[in-house]
Amino acid sequence: MRFDPDVWPVFGIRITTPLVTLEPVTPELAFALGDLAAEGIHDPATMPFQFPWTDAEPLELRRSQLQFTCRCIADWRPESWRLAFAVRVDGELAGVQDIAATEFGVVRQVATGSWLGRRFQGRGIGTEMRAAVVHLAFAGLGAERALSGAWVDNPASQAVSTKLGYARIGTHWGVRRGEACEEVLFGLGRDAWEAARRSDIAIDGLGAAALAQFGVT
Ligand SMILES: CC(C)(COP(=O)(O)OP(=O)(O)OC[C@H]1O[C@@H](n2cnc3c(N)ncnc32)[C@H](O)[C@@H]1OP(=O)(O)O)[C@@H](O)C(=O)NCCC(=O)NCCS
Repeated sequence: MRFDPDVWPVFGIRITTPLVTLEPVTPELAFALGDLAAEGIHDPATMPFQFPWTDAEPLELRRSQLQFTCRCIADWRPESWRLAFAVRVDGELAGVQDIAATEFGVVRQVATGSWLGRRFQGRGIGTEMRAAVVHLAFAGLGAERALSGAWVDNPASQAVSTKLGYARIGTHWGVRRGEACEEVLFGLGRDAWEAARRSDIAIDGLGAAALAQFGVT
């Protein structure tokens, strides 16, 4: 697929930290990420995600990566968007970190979601990739707050939020595999982000056209 930055400016964005690089998931990358997801993301006895997309056979799971990627493109509007980034460690695909917002131009709030292939977990990569998109949100897009939610029994996701300075702002109940489950909600405001702001994260390719796509004027 030839990438034309005039047609889809946000695909030109790159985020680089000392540990990871993030590039938007294109349909081409979605195939490779589908293979990675099919190798396993979590113990099947648990379900870390809001939507249980990993409760699927490997082929269906690989297809869902492509469908998710195409859906993000098809549904994109400046008033409602989700950008999924492929995360690489030493050039190798490790997982996905996404960032989404509704009415960002007015509300200045983002939410994030993520996964890593199992062999990449527990090495600080999840914290680093979240720090990278949060940097994009605050330093690049001018966000005022970032939100994250995790089921009550997902300590790794909650630990990522706490390590990055998010405060626990409440809980709510949702449905997981047909049963009620408590979700813990975390929020990071601009002041808390500024207090721990990093100088070793670089954002490239975020020009006026990409900002307009995010609804930032
Ligand atoms: C959530 C996820 C992205 C985090 O990435 P990660 O690279 O594994 O996390 P990190 O290594 O950066 O840090 C995780 C922190 O959680 C802590 N942690 C991990 N498992 C834990 C457990 N069972 N109990 C307590 N803390 C735990 C780690 O100790 C670490 O903190 P530390 O550095 O202070 O020791 C990754 O584990 C993952 O993909 N999980 C499956 C999918 C998922 O849960 N996605 C998020 C849905 S909300």
